Amino acid sequence: MEFRKSHGLHGEITVPGDKSISHRAVMFGSIAKGTTEIHNFLQGADCLSTIACFQKMGIDIENNRDRVIVRGNGLRGLRRPQDVLDCGNSGTTTRLISGILCAQEFDVTLTGDESIRKRPMKRIMEPLSLMGADITSMNGNGCAPLLIKGRPLKGIHYTSKVASAQVKSAILLAGLYAGSPTSVTEPYVSRNHSEIMLDLFGADIKASGTTCTIQPARELHGAQVMVPGDISSAAYFIAAGLMVPGSQLLIRNVGINPTRDGIIRVCQDMGADLELLNVTSGAGEPTADILVRSSSLHGTEIKGAIIPTLIDELPMIAAMACMAEGDTVIRDAAELKVKESNRIAVMVENLKAMGAHVAETEDGMIIHGKKPLHGASIDSRKDHRIAMTFAVTALCADGVTDIKDADCVNISYPGFYHDLEQLMK
Ligand code: S3P
Repeated sequence: MEFRKSHGLHGEITVPGDKSISHRAVMFGSIAKGTTEIHNFLQGADCLSTIACFQKMGIDIENNRDRVIVRGNGLRGLRRPQDVLDCGNSGTTTRLISGILCAQEFDVTLTGDESIRKRPMKRIMEPLSLMGADITSMNGNGCAPLLIKGRPLKGIHYTSKVASAQVKSAILLAGLYAGSPTSVTEPYVSRNHSEIMLDLFGADIKASGTTCTIQPARELHGAQVMVPGDISSAAYFIAAGLMVPGSQLLIRNVGINPTRDGIIRVCQDMGADLELLNVTSGAGEPTADILVRSSSLHGTEIKGAIIPTLIDELPMIAAMACMAEGDTVIRDAAELKVKESNRIAVMVENLKAMGAHVAETEDGMIIHGKKPLHGASIDSRKDHRIAMTFAVTALCADGVTDIKDADCVNISYPGFYHDLEQLMK
């Protein structure tokens, strides 16, 4: 797919529902008693994988596109699937569902696509095993396919080496079924959508600093879930509005949970003209409309506690830093190496191909800004965030940029290219 320089983006956009929250609403709805109604559910391939897995375990899920209805069977109401469960490209599906499955009264095999079968699963296998789970990597390489044999579980206090919401959530979900309370302590607070939604569904869950504790549950209760727009999808329009000269964009109804809003803080730190309008801050997930105008950006340093709050936005932030005056340093982001692709290596390689001055480091990268970019042939490695990042970066480059496997955006944002094009008219 080909992209060219833009002379400004204008207008309003509403991005699709949040991926993390959509996954959780289906999962928690499936193990709750009663009906869960999900509004603004993300119809991306990852979330559809989650729906398909629970349907295979006997859950009645009606996908009406604008509204998904999940008729849950309760904590012990899943049925043994006839088949292997296919998690597709989705790390969230694989890791969170493992936490639920290891407490069931049946055995199950989980697998996924080529990328998912290379992603590290020891990070959930270790804590779940400590809880008494029987979970093995069938190829012995610490990756899927995973064979999970349901067992009674006990509560633990686990200190995780990585700030990962997927690891934290897998343990907390297993904790619902354990015989005693379960706590997780992480180095920095990762996204807390599981905590917020489990509380909404009636679980007894409390967070204090970087530790979160859940009590064993008798049942969860279905609820209404309003999914806010995904800030990780909004990130491409935030960046496009700031990077492309002569732009002004209003991005409506974006989730701005403080465990996800790092991109807003970094943009402001880089000198962005960015305003939050119509901020809602009731119980649950806060939202805002985000207004951005083209800005003269300057470099910054991004490290430590802010990293988990913008982990999926770092590819776009790195490309944005190429437009900024001075250097941008990204540290403490080694987790990027184990995402859908090795996002440090893939970003550095593709940015260099466009003429950027960027260097890979152990746990991040250093970007020397303001080097003019030119079009190039970009290999997305079938990673949706890489494809979207370069579709936006191409708008600031001379010549033509060609993105390989551009259709991988369907994982998290099926209408992305259409929405981007609308803003250029
Ligand atoms: C997610 C957590 C993050 C993020 C992923 C979605 C989630 O992964 O990168 O896209 O929904 O919990 P980690 O928890 O592994 O950092």
